[in-house]
Amino acid sequence: MIVEEAIVGRRTVRGFLPDPVPEDLVRRLLEIASRAPSGSNIQPWRVAVVTGEALRALSADLLAEHDREADPRPDYDYYPARWRSPYLDRRRECGWGLYSTVGVARGDRAAAHRQRARNHTFYGAPVAVFVSIDRDMGRGSLLDAGMFVQNLLIAARAHGLESCPQVAVVSYPDVVRRRLAIPETEMLVCGVGLGRIDPDEPANTLRTSRVPVETFATFHR
Ligand SMILES: Cc1cc2nc3c(=O)[nH]c(=O)nc-3n(C[C@H](O)[C@H](O)[C@H](O)COP(=O)(O)O)c2cc1C
Repeated sequence: MIVEEAIVGRRTVRGFLPDPVPEDLVRRLLEIASRAPSGSNIQPWRVAVVTGEALRALSADLLAEHDREADPRPDYDYYPARWRSPYLDRRRECGWGLYSTVGVARGDRAAAHRQRARNHTFYGAPVAVFVSIDRDMGRGSLLDAGMFVQNLLIAARAHGLESCPQVAVVSYPDVVRRRLAIPETEMLVCGVGLGRIDPDEPANTLRTSRVPVETFATFHR
C-alpha cells in the first residue's frame, strides 16, 4: 500500500470483527511504530497490549464506571476546559455525524450513553493497546507518543487491520492502572483498538471532513 493511500484511507473504525490478531503481528506493528521520531530519540512511549480474558475483564470494569456515570478523571487535559468556535462546531459535526449513522436522535441521552459505552469494549476490537508516558517527562513527550500512535494506525493498514484511537478509555485511569499493573508514575495517554473492520457496522459508514489547507496554513514567500 503506498503511503498516501495508507494515510488518506485511514479512518476511525467503531465496529470490529472478533477475529484474533496474532501476537507476533502486534509485536511487529509496535516495532514499526517505534520508528517514530522523538526529540533526542528518547522514545518516551510505553505500551500495554491487552487481549482475550484480560481485555474482557478490563472492559467490564470500565463499563461499570461508565454505567454508574463516574466522573472522568483523566491523567491530563486532552480537551480544552472551555469549548469555543471553531473547535466546538467541528466537535458537534463529528458527534452528530456519528450519531446519525447509528440512529441516535438528538436529545436521546440514553441512546447516546449506550453508544459511548461501546468505547469501553473497544467497539469489539480483539486487541487494545494502551499508550502511556512517564509523568515527569515534558509536554513534548505527548507529541512523540502521538507520532508513535499515528505510525501504529498506519502500519496496521498494511496488514489488513483498522484502528480506533480512543481517549474515552483513559477516562478512568486508575481502573486501567490496576488491571494492567501500570505504576502511578506513568500517565495514560490514550488507547487504540485494533482489528479487522466489521463491514456491516453502521458506524463505519461515517466519513469525516477536513477544513481546507487555506484555513489552517499560511504561506510566507
Ligand atoms: C487521540 C485520539 C482520541 C480519540 N478518542 C476517541 C474516542 O474516545 N472514541 C471515539 O469513538 N473516537 C475517538 N477518536 C476518533 C476521532 O473522533 C476521529 O479521529 C475524528 O473524528 C476524525 O475521524 P477519522 O479518524 O475517521 O478521520 C479519537 C482520535 C484521536 C486522535
